[in-house]
Amino acid sequence: MPVHILDAMTREGFEEVVALHDRRSGLRAFLALHQTERGPAFGGIRRFRYGSEKSALLDCLRLSVAMSWKVALAGIAGGGGKAVVLDHPTLHLEQAYRHLGRCVERLGGRFYTGPDVGTGDRELAWVAAETRFAARPGPGRAGDLAGATMIGAFAGVRAALTRLDGAPDWPRRTIVIQGLGEVGSRLAQRLVEQGARVIATEVDERRAAAVAERLGIELAEPGSEYDLSCDVFAPCAMGGVLHDLTIRRLACRCVVGAANNILARSHHGDLLHERGILYVPDFVVNVGSVMRGAAYHLQGRAVPDAEIEERIGALVEEVLQRALSDGRPPALVAAEEAARRLRDGRRRTIKA
Ligand code: NAI
Ligand code: PHE
Repeated sequence: MPVHILDAMTREGFEEVVALHDRRSGLRAFLALHQTERGPAFGGIRRFRYGSEKSALLDCLRLSVAMSWKVALAGIAGGGGKAVVLDHPTLHLEQAYRHLGRCVERLGGRFYTGPDVGTGDRELAWVAAETRFAARPGPGRAGDLAGATMIGAFAGVRAALTRLDGAPDWPRRTIVIQGLGEVGSRLAQRLVEQGARVIATEVDERRAAAVAERLGIELAEPGSEYDLSCDVFAPCAMGGVLHDLTIRRLACRCVVGAANNILARSHHGDLLHERGILYVPDFVVNVGSVMRGAAYHLQGRAVPDAEIEERIGALVEEVLQRALSDGRPPALVAAEEAARRLRDGRRRTIKA
């Protein structure tokens, strides 16, 4: 089926979608600005081997909307956007990221970018060499971005366990993490430090072995994570992992993870609710790096770890409390609240 891009933009309220091509570096990318009425659109750069141009574009659009939701819920003065780069074997990485950086600069501050899958410190340094509008990790700059994301995920796990059992009771808990990348490996470490049992899956065997040896965690076969009996399943790899088939297999009590767009479709939040599995929406917990990037960009302020943990923990508790008292799925409650804030923000901007 073709994508009717203007129809999709009208339906979801997108402002701008840009297609980028650079012959020299082989860059092929999309950049979407969902919302900039309340401030810059915040969004990372995802580099991935997409199966098709269409799947890259759809990913870009969906990720941008999720960014608007998380930014609105966290009370950040901004909106959502995303850039996705179609990775391929002859892509010249440094030139491609520098080209992208120049495109971001030309947007004049309407888009402020940061990390995502395939874009870490090295790639962000290339982008930041060409634009003022990129969060660079490190002391004296935005700080530890993936670390901030991990803190949010950890706060979400803690709030979910507290809601279920009255306290996290770490030494008696088993957490299954999918993906031991920048965020997943940090989350594993934090949980191990608390005394929890961690089992992880990771498709990159070398990375899996290295992290498992360093932290002393258990590894399981990728794909088997859905069947593992545990307290928490924490997806920290790609989106779309929870759908009809995987939700049926889940043997956990709750799902809390950092991956963007964990649910394949929004109704999968209802399915989790029907199965009695507590789902803490990704766009509520994984806003830590944006909190840090936004505070640095908008206020020149470094956000301490404790503040991120406190703010995201409180946000999760609020969503879970409201979901419980309404008897409705947390994903629905959070999505409605995000949409309401976006609408109110728009109304205020139009009045002003
Ligand atoms: P990353 O690329 O460093 O790590 C992802 C890891 O997942 C990789 O090691 C990859 O090999 C592994 N993986 C991929 N597919 C897998 C599968 N099917 N099973 C098991 N492992 C698999 O990415 P990062 O930065 O850790 O991000 C993880 C997720 O969190 C992504 O969805 C990202 O969009 C989201 N996120 C990241 C933020 C950040 O600050 N880095 C901020 C907010 C969200
Ligand atoms: N990668 C972050 C996310 O998905 C986005 C981000 C943008 C982080 C700008 C920092 C600065 O939430």
